[in-house]
Amino acid sequence: MTEKSLMDQDIQECPWAFYKEMRDEAPIYMDPQLGCAVISRYEDVVQALRSPEIFSTKHAFPKFTNEAVRKIYDEKGHGEMIAVLVQDDPPEHTRFRSLVNLAFTAERVQKMEPYIEDITNSLIDGFIDKGEVDILREFCMPLPLTVIADQIGVSRDDIWKLREWTNAGVAATVDLMASEEEQIALAEKIVEFQLYFADRIEERRTNPQDDMITDLIQAEIEGERSLNLPELLAVIQQLLVGGNETTTNGLAAGIMQLIKNPDQAEALRADPSLYTKLPEEVLRIESPVQGLFRMTMEDVEIGGTTLPKGTLCQVRFGSANHDDRRFECPEQFDIERKAAGKHLAFGSGIHLCIGKMLARREMTVGLRAINERLKNLRLTVPEDELSYVPSVAMRGYTRLPVSFERR
Ligand code: HEM
Repeated sequence: MTEKSLMDQDIQECPWAFYKEMRDEAPIYMDPQLGCAVISRYEDVVQALRSPEIFSTKHAFPKFTNEAVRKIYDEKGHGEMIAVLVQDDPPEHTRFRSLVNLAFTAERVQKMEPYIEDITNSLIDGFIDKGEVDILREFCMPLPLTVIADQIGVSRDDIWKLREWTNAGVAATVDLMASEEEQIALAEKIVEFQLYFADRIEERRTNPQDDMITDLIQAEIEGERSLNLPELLAVIQQLLVGGNETTTNGLAAGIMQLIKNPDQAEALRADPSLYTKLPEEVLRIESPVQGLFRMTMEDVEIGGTTLPKGTLCQVRFGSANHDDRRFECPEQFDIERKAAGKHLAFGSGIHLCIGKMLARREMTVGLRAINERLKNLRLTVPEDELSYVPSVAMRGYTRLPVSFERR
């Protein structure tokens, strides 16, 4: 097959034909620029995700060996960020996961629905009379940022700081695209995050609240010890990284599908029970996390190939979700698709997204409000003028300018 890379900008803009070529001709594809094996078929992605002892996350994440970067963390902040959860393997992963689950109870998520609706409606109230808006900036970004700010327990005035720290966290942890110079700038941002949250943690130690910082401070690993400051900072960073960019991109992708498929937008208004299916099909067709890294810990047979121990791999959720061996007419958006819930956009196995219930709720509530309150929703620029943020891991627009009328 033709030599291409997940790092090519044109592939990042529109990866679907390349994914199909890989799945059909080279299901385990050696990416020449990334220097890793791309796993593209649904069943192979599932195999890798369900075998964490062979496909390690801990050994797949880049470590800052750069002295200048380490100095920034050590001298200005609270030391290099430690690897937890999405960057970790059992047994440590299991300990942290059960602890974060305590702060992420179904009850807490359940209680959020009315207030997710309030945030959604007040954001729409803020632009509904303008007739035109960059809906990415005015809606898709602030919705999850405000929700996570409230949940973690920080001021809503600080949501744009959270956004910057989220971006820095994504670039420093799950993408491999930052140059050494960029890593220095990222470290400076992450130190800002550390200092800000170290203060909030201190405040909660003396004055506990009904929020996640307090829950995390009070939780104990296997009933024995509480999390120390670097561990608390690492978990909070993951909630920010995991919960913002992804949900923002899921909301934007959903709005785009409503614009492109007016008949399905109409069907949703006619039968609102369909709204719960909407996030699943949006996430299947436009997975906000397109792929993440793993490292093989032993020789392994996958997709008809033997990968030697020590091979860096990309598990490509975005390609698996378009695999016609699993989904009929995968390029077609269909809110009534029976198998949509089988998508791998939240991963699978031990790292299955911890925030998936919250993300689904934000997407259902957010997209329903957009579809019910706005009419004649359309792009104000040709679709081919939209572009995506450069990333190997994530897929999301740089802007989404739309016009509309009040319904
Ligand atoms: C549409 C929105 C979302 C998408 C597409 C998404 C996607 C994912 C994926 C693919 C993984 C698996 C990573 C792997 O296998 O290595 C994951 C894990 C994770 N997600 Fe999400 N996520 C979303 C929303 C959220 C939210 C709202 C939060 C929290 C506020 C969150 C927190 C996490 C955390 C902490 C992990 C790591 C879990 C572990 O390693 O055990 N995510 N997410």
